[in-house]
Amino acid sequence: MFSHPDYDGHKRLVFAHDEATGLKAIVAVHSTALGPAFGGCRMYPYTDDADALTDVLRLSRGMTYKAAICELPYGGGKSVIIGDPRRDKTPELLRAMGDIVDSFGGSYITADDVGTTLDDLAVMRTATRYTAAATALAQESLAVTAYGVFMAITAAVERGLLRMSLAGLKVAVQGLGNVGLPLCGHLRGAGAELVVADPDTRRTARAATEFGARVVDVDVIYDQPVDVFAPCALGAILNDTTIPRLQARIVCGGANNQLAEKRHDAALAKRGIISVPDYLASAGGVIDFYQEQIDDRPDAVLRSVERIRDITSDVLARAAKTNETPLEVADRIVQQRLHGSVRHDAT
Ligand code: NAI
Repeated sequence: MFSHPDYDGHKRLVFAHDEATGLKAIVAVHSTALGPAFGGCRMYPYTDDADALTDVLRLSRGMTYKAAICELPYGGGKSVIIGDPRRDKTPELLRAMGDIVDSFGGSYITADDVGTTLDDLAVMRTATRYTAAATALAQESLAVTAYGVFMAITAAVERGLLRMSLAGLKVAVQGLGNVGLPLCGHLRGAGAELVVADPDTRRTARAATEFGARVVDVDVIYDQPVDVFAPCALGAILNDTTIPRLQARIVCGGANNQLAEKRHDAALAKRGIISVPDYLASAGGVIDFYQEQIDDRPDAVLRSVERIRDITSDVLARAAKTNETPLEVADRIVQQRLHGSVRHDAT
């Protein structure tokens, strides 16, 4: 396990099985250097256990980076339940997952994620208090990730294209789920012109009707003549095949782990494309959790998520100055915070 390519110094990795409910879960705590590890619980029908392990390790590391770049007092963690949420999810299984979260004694705090909902969290809370969205106000759906991506795009357009308005900006949005669709709403509201792709035709129809988006096939979204490409579906979509096809000057979206390999960051830079680190653009969820503890009114939460705009602007300004990529700059800031911090481990 320690030599797994994505292990990356994880602090704890727990494999949990509950025979009575059929629960099979992995909880990964990447770091607690800056505070308790925060990260959602994903339920997904992984093809095999190795896929689940890779996913949880990459996602929990990403959570460490999201919290650290936003200067939040949290570490990074994540959990995955191996199973089909439509078929295998039961209240008993969720309570068993709550027990596992509770066994971390607060060093891991969970949230909703792909395949789990705020209602599922409420069931888990019968077994543990270590979850996000514990108050009624915090359960309002604010699409914070989409709003954070919108803030990051706004900053990148200001810095990279020297445009102070998004009016007339052309944006390609890949994926119209919980992140992509509300992002389209924000962009359209600011006057941007949208090109979208999603295999789900009900979602593309919605984007066309509600936001005047032009719909293209999922295979050609990379080739669109746009200013910004916003990946909001899958990981590893920035690779040897897609990067040469991009027409956009900016890549900024909510999908986790967009680069197939680290070297693809340099490949983007070589093409003159400004790429906002995915962990920065998609940090809305962890900011939301932090803000819930202080003031959980929706307005206060959204104002707090707006810090993504300033952080993105700062990272891009430093990158331009030092001739590094935004990812190199952001990674260095994170490493300094992780290693320069006074340790107050929760475990
Ligand atoms: P979702 O499951 O709600 O939506 C994903 C959408 O992508 C679906 O509509 C799906 O049909 C579409 N899709 C699948 N394959 C596609 C393809 N080849 N081309 C275009 N579209 C495709 O997921 P959600 O929640 O919107 O998340 C999107 C991404 O953002 C994921 O990578 C997720 O890990 C990441 N993310 C989500 C957060 C959240 O709060 N929901 C938080 C941080 C990151």
